Amino acid sequence: MTRDVIDPKLLFRDEVVNLPVYKTGTKFHELTEEQSKQEMLRLGSNENPYGPSPRVFEAIQESLNEVHLYPDSTCNDIAEKLGEKLEIDHGRLVFNSGSEAILHAMVNACLRPGDKVVSLVPSFPIINIFALAAGASVIGVPHEDDLSFCADKICQAVGGGVRMVYLCMPNNPTGSYFTEPDLERIVATANSETLFVLDEAYVEFAGDKPDYPDAIKILEVAGQPYIALRTMSKAYALAGMRIGYGISYCEEFAGILKRASTVFNIGGMTLKAAEAALADQAHLTQCLNAISTEKSRIEKEFASQDIRFFNSAGNFICIWFPTLEQALTIEAGMQKNGIFTKGQKGRGTEGVLRITIGKPVDNDRMLAQLRQLR
Ligand SMILES: Cc1ncc(COP(=O)(O)O)c(C=O)c1O
Repeated sequence: MTRDVIDPKLLFRDEVVNLPVYKTGTKFHELTEEQSKQEMLRLGSNENPYGPSPRVFEAIQESLNEVHLYPDSTCNDIAEKLGEKLEIDHGRLVFNSGSEAILHAMVNACLRPGDKVVSLVPSFPIINIFALAAGASVIGVPHEDDLSFCADKICQAVGGGVRMVYLCMPNNPTGSYFTEPDLERIVATANSETLFVLDEAYVEFAGDKPDYPDAIKILEVAGQPYIALRTMSKAYALAGMRIGYGISYCEEFAGILKRASTVFNIGGMTLKAAEAALADQAHLTQCLNAISTEKSRIEKEFASQDIRFFNSAGNFICIWFPTLEQALTIEAGMQKNGIFTKGQKGRGTEGVLRITIGKPVDNDRMLAQLRQLR
């Protein structure tokens, strides 16, 4: 006679059982057969529509005969190259299969039950999920009526003495950022044990904002502990390869985080692809310029249609809606026509719709759809 199989809920911590599911930008499982036949437009995951440098494909090809070998778990080659580029000691760098994996390892290793994390509302929702799983809670500071974030309100939240400040800059989904004086003020309010997790997944795109600050320098000057998370998924167009890196304030911090992470977490092919992508800065610049030009064009179009949007330093623009339902209705309408965007909860009961900047022809299709649906 077999025993009744145990309820899996009893095997996990309560915080984990009740976690919400992360909603991705492209929901392939929701596609109807009819939709699958249309040309799909992926404007929901902030991918780079131009793809990676051609050198990436050569590097992948060359690494094919090594798939039976374990990769270099130290990531030394790419660490040295990146350290040189960033002009920092490469011992301060950590790598993992995407920056979300570093964030996950960070939260697991640093947060204790009852700890508090400050973040923005809306921001990258995964921090809420990871923090909840660790038994910590997130204090969310919402944006203002004019769609900006108020540094004083962040200072107030940070000043209460929190374990971690998760600052996504440019912020996903709004693209917002704090200027140098604002950021200096926020950092100055924190006590010396507050860890700043600076999520810079979109930092390469911020080059088109003259007042975008050097956040790492500000944290360095203040002597504040931090880790800046970066990814090769967005500007370098390697989302499918899965590699991200963290720049930590000291080598010892990086060392502890490495010990708290899995060992062989990046494949050899991915490492070679990432090195090739980093080596082709001309390709990166071309992509960034094309995306920036299109972002300005879309912003002008939105302004002429009285669409309210956030000031974005990312490769996306976020539209504000009075209700979540309105944002989700437009998202669903677009999806019905093969265009994926990402609707999510905004401040309170409000909603937002985040649209990735695509190629010009894709953006035309998106703009035409939006005009029809509003
Ligand atoms: C703000 C932010 N951080 C991190 C990530 C995760 O990036 P990765 O692909 O490196 O895990 C994303 C992906 O959308 C993001 O928007």
